[in-house]
Amino acid sequence: MASERDVRAGLRRAEQDHLLRFWAELAPGSRAALLGELASLEPDALREHCRGAAAACALPPGPLPDLAARLRPLPPERVGSAIRCDPETRRRWEEEGFRQIALNKVAVLLLAGGQGTRLGVTYPKGMYQVGLPSQKTLYQLQAERIRRVEELAGTRHGTLCSVPWYIMTSEFTLEPTAKFFKEHNFFHLDPTNVVLFEQRMVPAVTFEGKAILERKDKVAMAPDGNGGLYRALADHQILEDMEHRGVEFVHVYCVDNILVRLADPVFIGFCVLQGADCGAKVVEKAYPEEPVGVVCQVDGVPQVVEYSEISPEMAGLRGANGSLLYNAGNICNHFFTRGFLEMVTREFEPLLKPHVAVKKVPFVDEEGNLVKPLRPNGIKMEKFVFDVFQFAKNFVAFEVHREEEFAPLKNADTATRDNPSTTRRALLAQHYRWALQAGARFLEMHGAQLPELPGLPANGDPPAICEISPLVSYSGEGLEAYLQGRELQSPFILDEEQARLLQPQEN
Ligand code: UTP
Repeated sequence: MASERDVRAGLRRAEQDHLLRFWAELAPGSRAALLGELASLEPDALREHCRGAAAACALPPGPLPDLAARLRPLPPERVGSAIRCDPETRRRWEEEGFRQIALNKVAVLLLAGGQGTRLGVTYPKGMYQVGLPSQKTLYQLQAERIRRVEELAGTRHGTLCSVPWYIMTSEFTLEPTAKFFKEHNFFHLDPTNVVLFEQRMVPAVTFEGKAILERKDKVAMAPDGNGGLYRALADHQILEDMEHRGVEFVHVYCVDNILVRLADPVFIGFCVLQGADCGAKVVEKAYPEEPVGVVCQVDGVPQVVEYSEISPEMAGLRGANGSLLYNAGNICNHFFTRGFLEMVTREFEPLLKPHVAVKKVPFVDEEGNLVKPLRPNGIKMEKFVFDVFQFAKNFVAFEVHREEEFAPLKNADTATRDNPSTTRRALLAQHYRWALQAGARFLEMHGAQLPELPGLPANGDPPAICEISPLVSYSGEGLEAYLQGRELQSPFILDEEQARLLQPQEN
C-alpha cells in the first residue's frame, strides 16, 4: 500500500495536488480507497495526460489542414459491395465466410464499455430493449444471431461449430453485464464461449488541465474510448485466448446497432478472399452533412475522417456518377485478422492519439458540494477503434445497405434520430420486408389486405408489425418455408414455436 507521503509527492510532480484537498475530512476507509486509486496513476503519465487533454481541447476544431491535396476516396479495388455485386460473387463470399465459421476460425468482439450518456440509462446499453413485441434486449438479439449463424454454418458443413463472443466492458458495465448474462442463462450460449474483459479508465480533466474529483474521495474516471480495445486485449491476454481456440478472424462491432450482423459470413468471406488484414463495413452517407466518419485515404493511408475534420465543400463533392465522392460512412463494423491485432497491440498501440470528447462530468466544488453540471465541463480523452486502419497492409471496405444493417441507438426518444423509436422501426420494417419477400401478405383487422410497401423508408413505420426471431432467420433466409402464400394478421411474431407450427408437414 502506497504511503500518503509518496502519493502526495507523486501528485505534486503531476501538478495535481488538489486531488487531496478534502483529505483532512475523510474517514479511514475513504482515505485508503482514495490513496489506492491515486497510487495507481503514474505521476509522469498523469501530468502528460492532463496537460495533453487541456492542450488538445484548446485547439480550435475544424477541417484538417491542406485537406484538398491530401484526401482521396479509397481506390475501387479496395472496396467491395454487397449491393452492386452479382449474386454469384455474393454467394462465393458467403460460402467462404460460412466455411471459416464452420472451421471455428471466426470470433465476434463487442465494444460495450461506453457509458451511454446520451441514451441516459443507468445500466449498460446492451441491456436496453427498444420496445419490440418480443421485448428482447440488444444483448439478446445479438446472442441469438450468434446462435443462428453457428447453426447455419454447422448445417452447411456438417460440423458443430462455435463463434466465441468477446465482450469488452468497463468499470461501469462489467458487473451488470456479467450479472445480466448469468440471469439469462447466457441466452443459451455456452458460457465458456462468452468472454468478458475490462478496458482501462483514465481521469476526466477540466479545461485547465486538472483531474476532476467526482466525490471527496474519488477521482472522476472514464473509459479510455473504444480504441482502449488494444490495451485491453493485451492486459487480459485475449489474443492468446483466441489463438488457443484457433480463431483467425475477428468481427468487431458496437453495442448500439440493432441490425448488426454478427460474424456476417458475406463480410468475413469478402475480407478473407481479398487477403485483407483489416476491413470496415460502410454505408452510403445519407447527405453531405451527415455526422458520420468517412472511410477514405489521407496521404494515401486508409483512415476514418471525422465529419468535423472535413470541410463542407469537400463533404459535398460528387463523383462522375453523381453520388458523394466521400460517401463511405463508417458504421463501426470491423474485420481484423488475429495477426493484425497482435501487431497492433505489440507495436502500434502507443502511437494511437487520443481524441477529445467534451462531456458533462459530475464533480465536487471547492466547498465539497456535489454538482451535476448542466453544460459540458470536462474532457474525456478517448482512443478510437478505427484509428488502427493506418497500420493495415491490406485494408478493404465493404459497402452494405443501410436499411438492412445499420440503425444505432444513441439517444433518448427526446432526440429526433438514432433513438429507441427509430431503431425499433428499423428492425420491424426490415422484418416486414423480409416477410413480403418470402411471399407473405398482411391483413388489416377486418381482413382486407394491407398495401405492400417494399420501398419503405428505413425509419418509417411499417403498415403491419412483424418481428422475426434471429433464431429463425439471420438475414432473411429460409422464410419461404413458413411464410410463402400466407396471409398474416398484424402483429405477427415468428419465433421458434410459431415456426414449428408453420413448418410444412412432411409425409
Ligand atoms: P459511443 O461513442 O456511441 O459512446 O460508443 P457511448 O458511451 O455508447 O455513448 P455516449 O457517447 O456516452 O452517449 C460507440 C461504441 O463504443 C463503445 C460503446 O459501448 C459503443 O458500443 N465504447 C465507447 C467502448 O467500448 N468504450 C469506450 O470507452 C467508449
